Amino acid sequence: MTDLFTLLPKAELHLHLEGAILPATAMDLAARNGVTLAAGARVETLYRYDDLAGFLAVYGAIARAVVSQDDFRRITFEMLASCAASGARHVEFFISPHAHPDVPFATQFAGIRAGIAQARAAYGLTALFAPGINREQGPAAAEAYLDACLALRCPEMAGIGLDYNEAPYPPEPFAAVFARARAAGLQITAHAGEGGPAAYVAGSLDALGVMRIDHGYAVVNDPDLVARCRAAGVLFTCCPSTTRFTTIWRDLTAPDHPIRRMKDAGLRVTINSDDPPFFGTTLAEEYRIAHRDLGFSLADIRASILTGLAGSWLPQADKDRLAGEWAQEIDALLQDHADGL
Ligand code: ADE
Ligand code: ZN
Repeated sequence: MTDLFTLLPKAELHLHLEGAILPATAMDLAARNGVTLAAGARVETLYRYDDLAGFLAVYGAIARAVVSQDDFRRITFEMLASCAASGARHVEFFISPHAHPDVPFATQFAGIRAGIAQARAAYGLTALFAPGINREQGPAAAEAYLDACLALRCPEMAGIGLDYNEAPYPPEPFAAVFARARAAGLQITAHAGEGGPAAYVAGSLDALGVMRIDHGYAVVNDPDLVARCRAAGVLFTCCPSTTRFTTIWRDLTAPDHPIRRMKDAGLRVTINSDDPPFFGTTLAEEYRIAHRDLGFSLADIRASILTGLAGSWLPQADKDRLAGEWAQEIDALLQDHADGL
């Protein structure tokens, strides 16, 4: 029987293409492309790490196994197929084109666009992507990266993000590149408050001008900032399972888990899957965890789903139409659930 959390219509707003590569696909691509993933790598033990830096090292190694245009089509299609199987109707995903140093961006983007088109035809879902700026490479590299991405602007490229290891890479040095991305009409979002402090969340709002924060957990350490984010309606794309691997908050059932506290504080919290196979999860599973471990009532789940849709980068007219359709569908599913069907 398909469960409630799978059936609920959902938007996925925080997922990394390279972090969604299935272990078997990684092994297959590595073998085909003659790339060594790790000495003696086996499919069962490929995705193991203790922290964000360890995770990013594996992420980088896996990314190097993706080479041809068709490899990019394949990983995009497989990722969107998994999202569809989890009940996603719309997906916004990050890509890390700099993580494939030997592959021209044009080759990567062509494959990704083909994968999106294929998934759209197969599952009827919509998808947009955002190249993520690797903050570890600094602002000069980010400027060149933005130029390379803008030269390949396409309808599916909706925005730009900021990711990789936060501390000690604060947001402020990226203010100019974000201003330029905004002026070019890209949507903007930034990872902050995952491994870095609350000041990086505030800095992302102030220096980068974002109204969407990826993760954001450290916000709970600054009550004034929580109040500010609530008043301003800042959107947080939270990823429950990620916190078990990359943050100091490893127990999802803890009463002081930041996602629980952010929701209780009235922040606009959405549920997402980040790097699902790397963290042993799926989008539907993240919703199950939110309900079972993080204190999200079914009403909270409903609100989070609709908040995610409202905060997505779809055209406003589409969001308005879908909001009505999804609310009806969610209410019918919750009613069936309450009736024990
Ligand atoms: N890239 C992929 N997943 C990430 C995460 N959780 N934090 C920072 N960069 C990432
Ligand atoms: Zn992320």
